Amino acid sequence: MTSVHGANPLRDAADRRLPRIAGPSGLVIFGVTGDLSRKKLMPAVYDLANRGLLPPGFSLVGFARREWQDEDFTKVVHDAVKEHARTPFREEVWQQLIQGMRFVQGTFDDDDAFERLRGTIEELDKAQGTGGNFAFYLSVPPKSFPVVIQQLKKHGLADQTEGSWRRAVIEKPFGHDLRSAEELNAIVHEVFAPDQVFRIDHYLGKETVQNILALRFANQMFEPIWNRSFVDHVQITMAEDIGIGGRAGYYDGIGAARDVIQNHLLQLMALTAMEEPASFDADALAAEKTKVLGAVRLPRDLGRGTVFAQYTAGWQGGEKAVGYLQEEGIDPASKTDTYAAIKLGIDNRRWAGVPFYLRTGKRLGRRVTEIAVVFQRAPHSPFDTTATEELGQNAVVIRVQPDEGVTVRFGSKVPGTSMEIRDVSMDFAYGESFTESSPEAYERLILDVLLGDSNLFPRTEEVELSWKILDPIEEHWDGHGRPAQYPAGTWGPVEADEMLERDGRSWRRP
Ligand code: BG6
Repeated sequence: MTSVHGANPLRDAADRRLPRIAGPSGLVIFGVTGDLSRKKLMPAVYDLANRGLLPPGFSLVGFARREWQDEDFTKVVHDAVKEHARTPFREEVWQQLIQGMRFVQGTFDDDDAFERLRGTIEELDKAQGTGGNFAFYLSVPPKSFPVVIQQLKKHGLADQTEGSWRRAVIEKPFGHDLRSAEELNAIVHEVFAPDQVFRIDHYLGKETVQNILALRFANQMFEPIWNRSFVDHVQITMAEDIGIGGRAGYYDGIGAARDVIQNHLLQLMALTAMEEPASFDADALAAEKTKVLGAVRLPRDLGRGTVFAQYTAGWQGGEKAVGYLQEEGIDPASKTDTYAAIKLGIDNRRWAGVPFYLRTGKRLGRRVTEIAVVFQRAPHSPFDTTATEELGQNAVVIRVQPDEGVTVRFGSKVPGTSMEIRDVSMDFAYGESFTESSPEAYERLILDVLLGDSNLFPRTEEVELSWKILDPIEEHWDGHGRPAQYPAGTWGPVEADEMLERDGRSWRRP
């Protein structure tokens, strides 16, 4: 049956569910020998190919200093895929993928290498039909961003001829503070237009993070209570059990707050707190997130409203763990935070007076990321106080990982002859409700880059506003003695517990 308005609504609905497949294109990775490339980017490219979401002639070019031939590069990708890909290895997919794999050897300041890269891209356009469409993925230390961007410009690699596109994908950290982020933005935008730039915040590629929007705006039952009249406070936790591994060079001097609060946690907060966007389109989403970040209020007393700390030796998963200052490559006098907790407010009508507590840390009790919206207690209780003494506050908990889902916590009568009310929870688990497994964040984000879909990528303003929030906190920590301490394998320093106790609250133990 066709509708009277011409379009067939059933067919339109089906069309929207068709897989989004990238058109002719290729990806160039700078920093291809790094950890991120091996563990995340190469496997994600393979998984996309395996799911049939890449075009037949898709090309992958690695650029690095190593003296490799194409075959050496192919072997590295092969091993990375075998070890880290999410989907099973299929020889026919692999054979097709390697047709478009090339390696360009050189350093970032080597003009000849960038000319060879240009030649490789032209060759791939002919051999693989990539149509001049290339994304350049900068998986390199921030200090190398300017030179790579300048080289892309100098060698005409950023130029889009009619009908083709060029895009830059930039990994975090995007700057070190507001000033350096502004400088970087200026350098990037001298060469690339805003719609050519994709800044990665891989948390936005996670299914559960996108589900924040579905939960809030596709349902009627949460939104009416999602405000200061009903919400007591919000806790956003990103806890990791791992230490810094082999990343001393990157981590020392950066610390937990710059590493993940400036980006992942503030993005989670923005998605949790923002108003409903007019549509799910990139501009509309960015506008709402930007409003929230712009309305963030820091604690008046940064000494009482923030905590920074370092892990000391302890036990984790039955094994002894060394303290941060004893980790290989760490300056023994380092003040770098491996744990950070911050209390923020949002100055708008919806959230006035509701604290948002953000915390993150390495070497905590276990790996878990969650957003807990904790509600006020019922204004009046007809029950005896003894009946409700074990009743906590209602909460909606979005479990980002590893046990993806949503929990709603509320009180229920304990079976028996007396009236006793205790907390129970109602759980939605992805694994039980859906048969599809969730794609890795990088699969989604790389596909979006190739499709030119920028919904899930933070804009310049968001990055800069996030630094504006963090800069005064970092400055305060710089000027105020040494970080607090917590033994590896615990839930953080007592100072963080005290911070919430002063407000009459406590951290969740996920
Ligand atoms: C990265 C941080 O952005 O996120 C790392 O630089 C952190 O320090 C990682 O370990 C965690 O990502 P995920 O997806 O495992 O939660």
